[in-house]
Amino acid sequence: MRAALPREHRQQAEGRDMRVLGIETSCDETGVAVYDSGAGLLAHRLHSQVAMHADYGGVVPELASRDHVRRAVPLVREVVGEAGLAIGDLDGVAYTAGPGLMGALLVGAGLGRSLAFSLGVPAVGVHHMEAHLLAPRLEADAPAFPFVALLVSGGHTMLVDVEGVGRYRLLGESVDDAVGEAFDKTAKLLGLGYPGGPRIEALAAEGGPSELRFPRPMLDRPGLEFSFSGLKTSVLTALEKAGGELAAADIAWAFQEAVADTLVEKSRRALAAAGRERLVVAGGVGANRRLRSGLQAMAGEAGATVHFPRPAFCTDNGAMVAYAGWVRLAAGQGVQGDGFQARARWPLAELGPA
Ligand code: KG4
Ligand code: ZN
Repeated sequence: MRAALPREHRQQAEGRDMRVLGIETSCDETGVAVYDSGAGLLAHRLHSQVAMHADYGGVVPELASRDHVRRAVPLVREVVGEAGLAIGDLDGVAYTAGPGLMGALLVGAGLGRSLAFSLGVPAVGVHHMEAHLLAPRLEADAPAFPFVALLVSGGHTMLVDVEGVGRYRLLGESVDDAVGEAFDKTAKLLGLGYPGGPRIEALAAEGGPSELRFPRPMLDRPGLEFSFSGLKTSVLTALEKAGGELAAADIAWAFQEAVADTLVEKSRRALAAAGRERLVVAGGVGANRRLRSGLQAMAGEAGATVHFPRPAFCTDNGAMVAYAGWVRLAAGQGVQGDGFQARARWPLAELGPA
């Protein structure tokens, strides 16, 4: 049975702060956090499965689900304790309901809903990409609405015009590989293993300009779509042609330049097209320092500001889920009762306003 709850409205009216537990299990990180609407983030922790999946060169869904089962409850205990709370002090529970790996999502959804049910507090299923795009609002220089969001993760590459919570207009997205996927696949080609993004960034720091220059996909035409699958082929061709002559570090450098230039230029065009002055960057690739400095420089020239979450909140984490969950719960969008839902696919545009 589901029913919208007035409880959080009462709390708002009474001026009482809400403490929301956030649980993220959509992919290969178990993230847990407690967000307090008055005091801010009280505690957050992450258990990364990266080492476990590294042997397989990528995320193995079944292993991911099992590891979430092992980690989630102990992490909740630790985080609630670190926040100085007892479990009964929680006023709501948020969990990632999609998009993501179904088995992994179900672990967080099952735990989140049963915990909320047993505590008699509302629960809310959070959209993973909404959580990413609201993450910069956890920082001291929280961006005001409206803004353009550049969402760059392992599964998504999107430019979104954000008028407010749940008021999203897709400006452009990748027609093939997501940018994080391009980092991961290119890293594999270079023998760097998984996850590719941080490894390519580290290797690129040892490289520099050479005769190699990769294409900047789709910059020669109007529109805000991206395409990254060709870039991976270019890397492969360069590797074969060079026959070991070119340093892998220079290839990594040239790849990172091509990706960053493309994302920076499309972001500049998106700001102009939407008539916005703020750019918000979120998702794992947003941790990349070359991309961050390129976007800073572009924003400076365009008279815009750019907002990033701290690198730990660019990649998957519980804090963003607790925060996005609080936003939805405070708007009375929590549900109560048994039963839960998770969605492997869930278009951002289907969300309504808070
Ligand atoms: O947001 P995220 O943690 O998970 C998803 O929702 O997908 O993003 C993970 C992606 C991976 O493809 C990873 O290689 C990439 O973000 N990534 C990076 C960096 N750190 C993580 N890409 C480039 N540079 C980084 N420093
Ligand atoms: Zn993510």
